[in-house]
Amino acid sequence: MPQQSASRATDLVVFGGTGDLSMRKLLPSLYLLDRDGHLDGGTRVVAVSRDGLTDADLRDKAASAVRGHHAVQVAEPDVLHRFLERLSHVTVDVGGDPSGWDDLTAALAPGRDRVFYLAVPPMISGAICRGLDDAGLVTPDSRVVMEKPLGRDLASSRAVNDAVGAVFDESRIYRIDHYLGKETVQNLLVLRFANVFLEPLWNSRWIDHVQITAAETVGVGGRRGYYDTSGAMRDMVQNHLLQLLCLTAMEPPASYDRDSVRDEKLKVLQSLRPLTGDRVAEDTVRGQYGRGSVHGSEVLGYLDEPGGPALSDTETFVALRAEVANWRWAGVPFYLRTGKRMSHARSEIVIRFREVPHTIFPGTNLPGAGSLVIRLQPDEGIHLTMLAKTPGAGALRLRPAPLELSFADTFATRSPEAYERLLTDVLAGDSTLFMRRDEVEAAWRWVDPVIEAWNGLSTTPETYPAGSAGPAGAHRLIGRTGRTWYEEERPR
Ligand code: BG6
Repeated sequence: MPQQSASRATDLVVFGGTGDLSMRKLLPSLYLLDRDGHLDGGTRVVAVSRDGLTDADLRDKAASAVRGHHAVQVAEPDVLHRFLERLSHVTVDVGGDPSGWDDLTAALAPGRDRVFYLAVPPMISGAICRGLDDAGLVTPDSRVVMEKPLGRDLASSRAVNDAVGAVFDESRIYRIDHYLGKETVQNLLVLRFANVFLEPLWNSRWIDHVQITAAETVGVGGRRGYYDTSGAMRDMVQNHLLQLLCLTAMEPPASYDRDSVRDEKLKVLQSLRPLTGDRVAEDTVRGQYGRGSVHGSEVLGYLDEPGGPALSDTETFVALRAEVANWRWAGVPFYLRTGKRMSHARSEIVIRFREVPHTIFPGTNLPGAGSLVIRLQPDEGIHLTMLAKTPGAGALRLRPAPLELSFADTFATRSPEAYERLLTDVLAGDSTLFMRRDEVEAAWRWVDPVIEAWNGLSTTPETYPAGSAGPAGAHRLIGRTGRTWYEEERPR
């Protein structure tokens, strides 16, 4: 199937079009694309919901969402007007009164590209796709976009994929992992495959271990209900962290196209050594935040967050040790860690190089030396610590010194939001940065046994105070082999 290169006039139909994701991410990102000239003049957005809004209601809601978005700052009145004119609302009650499908049919123009965006819980994705099919709305070129969660285990993920796959060919399905739309995540591929010097070092001979961290200061907020059915393993590890691991560990693809890149990511997932049996207790740590203080403000513990039971074993923190069992990575631990209500919001990949094989200088095993840090957020950039001589006469003294590439300082341009990039790609028909079904299922195949093993353990997640570095168990996990998390040794 040829990939289309540029976006054309498209009817973008957003199911869940008045919901949280649409207002917080999709509409502001579409506005930014419009403002920066990346949206075809003929593209229209049809928000579908059960809300019975008029077009004017939707446009008011969208205008506030755009104005309130941090990347928009001040909405330009002419652009905002032009953007709002693209929007309309159609009420469809999926599984209920069928007349909504006729209204949707009337809202779409024949002969234009169609993208159906499912910003809805996964259990209604199948019913929406059937409804679209029954209404004759699915043209051969139509695409469908799916949001996570893509199921809550392998079986439910297969069920959702089967239901959507019954209507749309796999090449027409765009599964979003918004981490893949982040600038620095794409830059990781450029760093690895557009520079010649890293590849010879990118293996177990020169790399001691890898750390992948996604730490947030926010709690679950109003999402306690969802979170109790998910937990950090399903919410962050199964998708975002494993995708980062794939991009870090994958072999060079033959070209930058959807199947070459995704084939290589899949091989990484298939090489993950299963975490089962006793290894689950040894190599994983679960935590749950208690009360505490984040940046000086008192915050609730997870169990006090509204919308859920007073007792829950849901993990808000996970740390684990994974192994990619292949020739390149044998023996190199990949430490993955994610948590809510941590002391600092920080997402980064740390490649920790080995020490020199033979030292002629004393003290070369200094903390923090020989680390390559790919910082996804905040302060996107790449940071390499080299050992350097401290200036001065007398005894030779070494110190880790940073080589910094800050994207903000180097490129005088705004980094687009992840959704801007992903929406552009969907509109252009490029699925390289989206997850293929086999990838999603391979990830569940690895994650499911860990969750099952946790359910069988008598232990519960370790409580950590909000605003801390997570549970002590995470420090023991990495400390067992004499290693430390990067922030404890970050050169100041
Ligand atoms: C989402 C998770 O996928 O990613 C949220 O459901 C999490 O729980 C969010 O907060 C983190 O995304 P970002 O872009 O803020 O790092």
